[in-house]
Amino acid sequence: MKELTLNFDEENKKMTAELSGRIDANNAITLDTELNDYFEKKAPESVVIDLKYLEYVSSAGLRVFLKLQKKCRNLRLINASADVYEIFSVTGFSEIMNIEKALRDISIDGLDIISQGMMGEIYRLTDSEIVKIYKDTIPEEEISESRKKTRSAFVAGIPTMIPFDMVRAGNRLGVVYEMLGGESLCDFMIGSEENMETGIEKLAEVYHQLGDTHMKAGVLADHKDVVKNRLKDLEGIFTESEIETLKELADVIPATDTLVHGDLHCGNIIIKDGEITLIDMDDVDLGHPIWDLSILTFLFDIFANSAPEKVVKKALHFSPEQCRHILRNFISDYFKTGDDADIDFIISTLGRLGMFRRVFLIPVQPEENRSNKADEIRRDLLSVIDQEKESLNKVLDMFKSVGEISTF
Ligand SMILES: Nc1ncnc2c1ncn2[C@@H]1O[C@H](COP(=O)(O)OP(=O)(O)O)[C@@H](O)[C@H]1O
Ligand SMILES: [Mg+2]
Repeated sequence: MKELTLNFDEENKKMTAELSGRIDANNAITLDTELNDYFEKKAPESVVIDLKYLEYVSSAGLRVFLKLQKKCRNLRLINASADVYEIFSVTGFSEIMNIEKALRDISIDGLDIISQGMMGEIYRLTDSEIVKIYKDTIPEEEISESRKKTRSAFVAGIPTMIPFDMVRAGNRLGVVYEMLGGESLCDFMIGSEENMETGIEKLAEVYHQLGDTHMKAGVLADHKDVVKNRLKDLEGIFTESEIETLKELADVIPATDTLVHGDLHCGNIIIKDGEITLIDMDDVDLGHPIWDLSILTFLFDIFANSAPEKVVKKALHFSPEQCRHILRNFISDYFKTGDDADIDFIISTLGRLGMFRRVFLIPVQPEENRSNKADEIRRDLLSVIDQEKESLNKVLDMFKSVGEISTF
């Protein structure tokens, strides 16, 4: 027995079909006819088939989906039960069709909250798992992408938490991850002078490891494209020609197949028994290590030296003086140089590149602050853009002594 409900969303030219019961040789032909007639009549641009109530599908049923996919490249099968998904998986259909398993429902009532951040909250789900529950304003694709990013990095050998499944908690979505023991690298480093020095070495090691990890093409986005795309959010805050200038700055950075974390500071690194693990992989992309280095430098140099001490301590967990010490020694370790002039040059060049980060924070600032922030960028970055491009090229040359990024 099977039942079929068909719907069409005119605005998005999207056809949806909900199936229930069993599809086998007895009803596959009728299903095929009904689906195809509706498809021909509506000529949709995309088709989503909801398998939530589907109990079983035989080979005759699988062929119905295959036939539909030939007509419509943009076909998604969603909400497959574990049993139905197994049929698609064992036959290889999961490799040729876009099929997604039903999300597990969990309840977050009564769970201990570990942290509250910009994207949502982190809860302790079990003794060995946490769940990151995203705000309901964040689209499903972005959350699913986040999980895939952690997965790709993990599979490529980056030390990060094991990603489990995407789940539903009421009207919000989340991702389950392995719970890590240990402490953040910040807390560890504050512990003793010896830990401070060990922490700096560990930080340089993990930056090297990301820059040494070459990824397959096509899975992750190119960070440079992401940065350039986001410049569109700044229309109205900057002039067209200023945005063009910022794009040209991004173009100085070579595209590479290495990993960029996107927010690689000591608070997103966990240390336990001397082993480190990266968390918060929401912004992982492909790109040159200079992107991550520039954000760290911006925070530990420009931000740490200009914001009030209390604000710096709250955001980075270190005093401005500790920030200066950490950054200088980190840059010295990373670039394998003890030359003070080189270190100063690298820090001032990377700090200005890190202002890209400040640029993207402008649209989320209260409206009355935006023009002041934009003026700071004009004063500190745009006015010296030619010099900054030249300096960046020199710093890019210095990566040769680091011995990574073998692709260029
Ligand atoms: N896998 C994990 N195991 C243990 N604690 C975690 C894990 N992931 C995150 N946390 C804790 O939650 C905090 C926030 O997580 P994070 O993913 O960095 O979110 P945000 O986007 O808010 O920065 C971390 O600083 C850490 O204390
Ligand atoms: Mg974080």
